Amino acid sequence: MTTPRTIRFTLNERAVSLDVMPHETIIDMLTQRFDLKGARESCGQGLCGCCTVYVDGKSLSACLSLAWFLDGTKVETIEGLAKGGQLDPVQEAFIEAGAFQCGFCTPGFIMMVKQLLDHHPDPSDDEIRHYLTGNLCRCSAYPEIVDAVRIAAAKRARALAA
Ligand code: FES
Ligand code: FES
Repeated sequence: MTTPRTIRFTLNERAVSLDVMPHETIIDMLTQRFDLKGARESCGQGLCGCCTVYVDGKSLSACLSLAWFLDGTKVETIEGLAKGGQLDPVQEAFIEAGAFQCGFCTPGFIMMVKQLLDHHPDPSDDEIRHYLTGNLCRCSAYPEIVDAVRIAAAKRARALAA
């Protein structure tokens, strides 16, 4: 018989503690235990990027990883990006560019774009496409998503220069 294990970690800047089963995935934990529905399970195989979260600042497919490995880590989800009621510049850019249709893939894209701009503040189109190859959009909003990356990069550059 499997037994639960207590894990403690930081979730969107809040310290949390809970018992998880050995087979419980991060995406199941987020949606079922914390009612966080921004990261979504779609392919369940690490192929689509819809379930992207950050663990200790690095993107991770929450559908493939087990919750009990989160013990002692810092986890950030799309719900944690807005600060003080202000959307993250990447979120604003997606709205301005109209970079979604159904929106199912959008949280995963936003998480990856934010990480892309952390590493490449002024990415070329090739860099954008290469970095986002692990994110799939069934509505094919790709041109607008690339536009959103450019808008977000410009917003960040203006904020840094101010
Ligand atoms: S649902 Fe996790 S990568 Fe597709
Ligand atoms: S906007 Fe519908 S899947 Fe991307």
